[in-house]
Amino acid sequence: MINELANDCLHHYQTRTMPQGLAIMTSGGDSAGMNPAVKCCVEYARKQGFQPFLVYDGLRGLIDDHIFEADRERTSGILHRGGTVLRSSRSKRFFEYQYRQQAFENLQRRGIGQMIVIGGDGSFSALNQFYNDFQIPFAGIPATIDNDIAGTEYCLGVDTALNQIRQAVDSIRDTATSFSRAFVIEVMGRHCGYLAMVSALACGAEVCLIPELAYDLDRIGERLKQEKADGRRYVLAIVAEGTRMSDHLTRWLGQTLGMDARLTVLGHVQRGGSPSVYDRIMAYKFAVAAVESLKSGNTNAIMTFSSGTFGYVPIETVTSSKYSIDADLLKLCTPLSC
Ligand code: F6P
Repeated sequence: MINELANDCLHHYQTRTMPQGLAIMTSGGDSAGMNPAVKCCVEYARKQGFQPFLVYDGLRGLIDDHIFEADRERTSGILHRGGTVLRSSRSKRFFEYQYRQQAFENLQRRGIGQMIVIGGDGSFSALNQFYNDFQIPFAGIPATIDNDIAGTEYCLGVDTALNQIRQAVDSIRDTATSFSRAFVIEVMGRHCGYLAMVSALACGAEVCLIPELAYDLDRIGERLKQEKADGRRYVLAIVAEGTRMSDHLTRWLGQTLGMDARLTVLGHVQRGGSPSVYDRIMAYKFAVAAVESLKSGNTNAIMTFSSGTFGYVPIETVTSSKYSIDADLLKLCTPLSC
């Protein structure tokens, strides 16, 4: 379903004749779900009469002409693979007009007049600048494990990352219980606490610190001391990297509870792994929405999933507002931060 309001705000180019070449690329931090999204974009675009191309190496590849026709061989056997087979990059050169001009010429030579970019808000802004320079319409598919893109409740890769975290925390619990230790587990998310919040709830952690919630270490200390007196033998604390509290909390737990305390920083393991069933299906739906958005004449729309419905918002919504974290989950998480 298309958000009518957003529709009004988007530019249209329906009256112009556009080349049917459609380039698909992944950009910024990789996430599970990018490969099924690429595959579906190619197949669905082809059915809709586009000629699909693949850009390898993200923005760098757009500048350096790593662009190939999307023959079947390039997209077969990729559905189940983590990361992105198109590879990715963060390119500083793309900020300079001369390199964007080079990228435009690469597209023009092949008759490519539209793009789908699978990535985060930084990548969308870059493509919007490109649109402003050369009027190459694009559709953005939100993909980042951080789940921090304004306007959409879901970004590709989040479910797979949460499952990676769940598996790691379940394993840590085994050793924590065996040794009666306190464990702090740091998860990714940049400035967003979504991964930490959901995994703390799903894994039954005793403590959760995220940037979106004020925390009270004194109260946490009193609560855990009482629980220890009542028989608690181990503690799991999940901390979002954005709080920068992991080292301090580990030392503090050790001192406050008189327990052996350890820190595990999960790191990039959270970004890998075969996409979950949910991410594969979401990838398909986002991909169809992106092709349809271009077909209907939108020039710079970002696909969204909100209240169970797929739609899109203008790029300005994404760049000018901040993501909002699920208020119900936040409420559930509050007792873990005080
Ligand atoms: O944006 C995804 C993300 O994995 C963040 O959660 C993390 O802070 C960052 O990327 C890590 O970036 P890099 O892969 O460049 O180290």
